Amino acid sequence: MTDRNQTLFERAQRVIPGGVNSPVRAFRAVGGTPRFIARAQGPYMWDAEGQRYIDYIGSWGPMILGHGHPAVLEAVQKAALEGFSFGAPTEREIELAEAIIALVPSIEQVRLVSSGTEAGMSAIRLARGATGRSKIIKFEGCYHGHADALLVKAGSGLATFGHPTSAGVPAEVVQHTLVLEYNNLAQIEAAFAAHGADIACVMIEPIAGNMNFVRAQVPFVKRIHELCKQHGALFVFDEVMTGFRVALGSAQSVYAKAIPGFAPDISVFGKVIGGGMPLAAFGTTREIMKHLAPLGPVYQAGTLSGNPVATACGLATLKEIAKPGFYEALAAKTQSLVSGLTQAAQAAGIPFCGDSEGGMFGFFFFDSLPQHYNAVMATDKERFNRFFHGMLDRGVYLAPALYEAGFVSAAHTEADIAATVAAAAEAFADLSKACA
Ligand SMILES: Cc1ncc(COP(=O)(O)O)c(C=O)c1O
Repeated sequence: MTDRNQTLFERAQRVIPGGVNSPVRAFRAVGGTPRFIARAQGPYMWDAEGQRYIDYIGSWGPMILGHGHPAVLEAVQKAALEGFSFGAPTEREIELAEAIIALVPSIEQVRLVSSGTEAGMSAIRLARGATGRSKIIKFEGCYHGHADALLVKAGSGLATFGHPTSAGVPAEVVQHTLVLEYNNLAQIEAAFAAHGADIACVMIEPIAGNMNFVRAQVPFVKRIHELCKQHGALFVFDEVMTGFRVALGSAQSVYAKAIPGFAPDISVFGKVIGGGMPLAAFGTTREIMKHLAPLGPVYQAGTLSGNPVATACGLATLKEIAKPGFYEALAAKTQSLVSGLTQAAQAAGIPFCGDSEGGMFGFFFFDSLPQHYNAVMATDKERFNRFFHGMLDRGVYLAPALYEAGFVSAAHTEADIAATVAAAAEAFADLSKACA
């Protein structure tokens, strides 16, 4: 037990609900005491007791360069000296918009905001405003932030729209949200057959990191794209997690390679584009953006949007990841982690499988990769939780819930990966002893 972490947790719970400012940090899924982080550098974090961890969360995705990258630190320090926030336009906002547009061909304009939730919520409003329609489709297990209309679980059939997953969300607010099973072609066909003329948009996590790591199958994405075009609906790619994380062109570049002519209509970004600062964005064509205020009637605004320190951090991060060979090296390292973990599990006789793209990975205590939410939730939670704690005790910080993805940064070394796999071999051996 870590006394200082425990003391801080008790103190935190007196003044912050559950002791945390975002629920997953409370370790409710895995049990135990959350580690209070004191500092981080490169691929490591140190908790309040000075215990070091190899960090595979990377602030849930943004820290693709690792913590405290010198070029990013320099840009942030310089920007902070120039001023924290002006509430007026700056040149750096243009530079960041230009950088994003240069890397993502489906986008002609972006609006910068402060969180992925805000970006996703605004993208839906824009889709509804641009199409003049109300209904939206999302998929079970995909998380698009905590906007009311998106906190929905599936109804009992295609005729019934969703039910709120959170108290405080009135049923009327989600009555236009249809929730379907991920990778289920028959359901999306049926939904468009029933409601096609009323659907404003289909929103998806192309690689669902909020189900650990589940890829939307290529034929699934291709068919949604076709159905959207056919019915005048917009296809929204939520790339808050995958954006500039799985490839320089984001997940949409991976699908564009497999589906000729593929491009989403609206893209949502966050995490990596802010490099660890509160920054997110949504982007689309000029034609669709003309509906957004101040050009058009779809309202959207933010006091801190395009914040000068955050844009400096994001720009410096994008500059580093655009360097030749960056993603090849990151992907190779991430693959070697996943294959090392898989081999170690096999050696211990434990059912296990994993997958990765770029610097994002996932793994399951199961024989094959799940394709949708119910299959993810049917994987071995007990084993995951024991493994999580086994790794944490050995100085490896994985996501504290079986439905969360993992992230490798450019700062992780081969030695870090080898140390992680060695720790996993011990943790798997403990698991198989526990099951024997
Ligand atoms: C795919 C996806 N969309 C949206 C969000 C919401 O972003 P934020 O937490 O910045 O509001 C997240 C957060 O993890 C996410 O993973």
